[in-house]
Amino acid sequence: MNTVSALGKSSLGMKYVMAATGAVLFLFVVGHLVGNLQVFGPPELINGYAHCLNSKPLLLWGVRLGLLAVLTLHVVTAVQLTLRNKDARPIGYLGGEGYGSTWQSRYMLVSGLVILAFVAYHLAHFTALLPWVNGVGDFRKLEATLPGGVKAHDVYAMMILGFQVWWVVLLYLAAQALLFIHLGHGLAAMFQSVGLRDHNWWPRIQFFAKATSIAIFIGYALIPISIYMHVIGVEYADKVRDKITQSPSAKSAAPAVKGGEITWPR
Ligand code: HEM
Repeated sequence: MNTVSALGKSSLGMKYVMAATGAVLFLFVVGHLVGNLQVFGPPELINGYAHCLNSKPLLLWGVRLGLLAVLTLHVVTAVQLTLRNKDARPIGYLGGEGYGSTWQSRYMLVSGLVILAFVAYHLAHFTALLPWVNGVGDFRKLEATLPGGVKAHDVYAMMILGFQVWWVVLLYLAAQALLFIHLGHGLAAMFQSVGLRDHNWWPRIQFFAKATSIAIFIGYALIPISIYMHVIGVEYADKVRDKITQSPSAKSAAPAVKGGEITWPR
């Protein structure tokens, strides 16, 4: 037990923690991207998928709490490792800040913390559905009918309407750019931490890290860009926009036409 806790507190142990938690978060990012890309299919596809995930609350909350624990461990260990490295080298390298490191590696903590801030915004936007963070209206009012008559949250409409707001699109693209920087270095570092850095493997690992981070960036960026550029979902957006923008007071303020006569509500 003492050996395990000593390893956990050593720099090597902390690097193992970073690699293991990073691997779990990476798998989530890939799985989440595959799920989100269903927005390019018919609305029932992503709505059925989201409904399937949300209709198993025990499993959903188990995964959510597990992810939260992994994310917390990843961030806390990263901060501790950075502080430890600073303490170990209070005076910088002779060759300057960047000596012996890539620009991506020098921005790991900053890019990680900005991605964390993005995830907080993203949860408020698409999971907690807080109306004042999306710039369009109340996403909670969006309901879809799935094949078989089951009522479900209209996640398709939420994404189509959500990414018609320019500053939301910019925010998501900026977060994807930082995720690209973070993964570009993090994926290679993950293998290095577990001792895989010999002459044979290192070029392949670096290629894997670069290719994967580029593919993830393109995959995630395609979603807001295609929606904002009206490549997908235009007609659907026109059908559902009123559901979230019309307030009850706006409805009652509308004139009623009866027998050719217009009556205005008092
Ligand atoms: C274009 C980019 C993205 C889109 C369109 C998107 C879309 C969504 C949607 C629609 C949900 C809610 C799912 C539901 O209501 O069932 C969601 C939840 C979530 N997203 Fe994303 N996402 C994107 C990027 C990301 C990234 C880059 C991360 C992490 C780095 C992330 C992390 C999460 C998390 C943690 C949740 C909460 C899952 C839960 O409900 O437990 N997302 N996302």
